[in-house]
Amino acid sequence: MAIIGQDILQAKSILEAGELVAIPTETVYGLAGNALNPTAVASIFETKNRPSFDPLIIHVPSLMFAENYVNEIPATLRRLAEEFWPGPLTLLLPRNKIIPDIVTSGLDRVAVRVPSHPLTLKLLGQLEFPLAAPSANPFGYISPTSPQHVDAQLGGKIPYILDGGACKVGLESTIVGMEGDEVIVYRLGGLEVSEIEKVVGKVSVKSHSSSNPQAPGLLESHYAPTKPFIIGDLDDLIKEHHGKDILCAVLSLDKSFSSIPDDYQIALSPSADLKEAATHLFSAMRTLDSSNVQVIVAELMPDKGLGRAINDRLRRASSKG
Ligand code: TXA
Ligand code: MG
Repeated sequence: MAIIGQDILQAKSILEAGELVAIPTETVYGLAGNALNPTAVASIFETKNRPSFDPLIIHVPSLMFAENYVNEIPATLRRLAEEFWPGPLTLLLPRNKIIPDIVTSGLDRVAVRVPSHPLTLKLLGQLEFPLAAPSANPFGYISPTSPQHVDAQLGGKIPYILDGGACKVGLESTIVGMEGDEVIVYRLGGLEVSEIEKVVGKVSVKSHSSSNPQAPGLLESHYAPTKPFIIGDLDDLIKEHHGKDILCAVLSLDKSFSSIPDDYQIALSPSADLKEAATHLFSAMRTLDSSNVQVIVAELMPDKGLGRAINDRLRRASSKG
């Protein structure tokens, strides 16, 4: 079983030996390995059961280190890096040849980010290589936002989980790149589109181009609980699904329902604060998924700010049906 601890030197020596460590970030926990070691990267894919056409993000301690792994940083994207790193922003940049093909699935761009978490920044600062790290969940399941989430599913497969507590943002990073002169958001995430637009002006959001591995965020069914997950009007859904024979769990932004036992309902933010809702989303989905119900019903958030990224995750969670 994995050791859960805060020993950066132990994490460092495991990574230097080509093995994997789960690392905390402000968004979600990552399953990290030496990005320059193709064997270590291959074991990330294997441990997650992830298809090899779905490329990985590399994590570096600063913009300066990012320069080592890319051919250039377009001025517009550099402004975003300067403004938002460390933070929940991933940039797609033209990669240089130091990065093995297995990291980018052979694509010309590499995804790079500087995560905002003190333990992980300290670890990255002591390593001589970047860390390739997808979210530390089995492929297709809900991303982990605590060391316990990682341990529950991958604990038997990795030696060490670096314990950085609960993730403060709770949604994966926003992925941004350029096509010609246009700035494109490929995955909605923890950095709001409006914040990006304050720095670079209007951007296009392409995050719904599902099942195209060229674009991130990717497969339509993702972030999915094992129970059927249905989105809609909660009063209607409860009427339809909650009955004598079927137990139904309810995920809402700020509501409570007298017909549903307390253990089977979670309001993500009683004050309807979307930032708070984002922080609680994945752990609420896990809690309801592991409860004794047959169906989970959920409502969409207001489509603004982080609500857009939360809605993206809710839709992907539901498409498995
Ligand atoms: O917040 C995050 O981004 C977390 C933490 C651990 O950093 N990581 C994360 O990684 O969410 P992952 O692998 O679960 O999602 C990364 C997404 C994938 O959908 C992948 O397809 C896309 O980024 N991606 C990675 N490299 C890419 C590339 N070169 N071109 C296009 N998409 C890429
Ligand atoms: Mg993921």
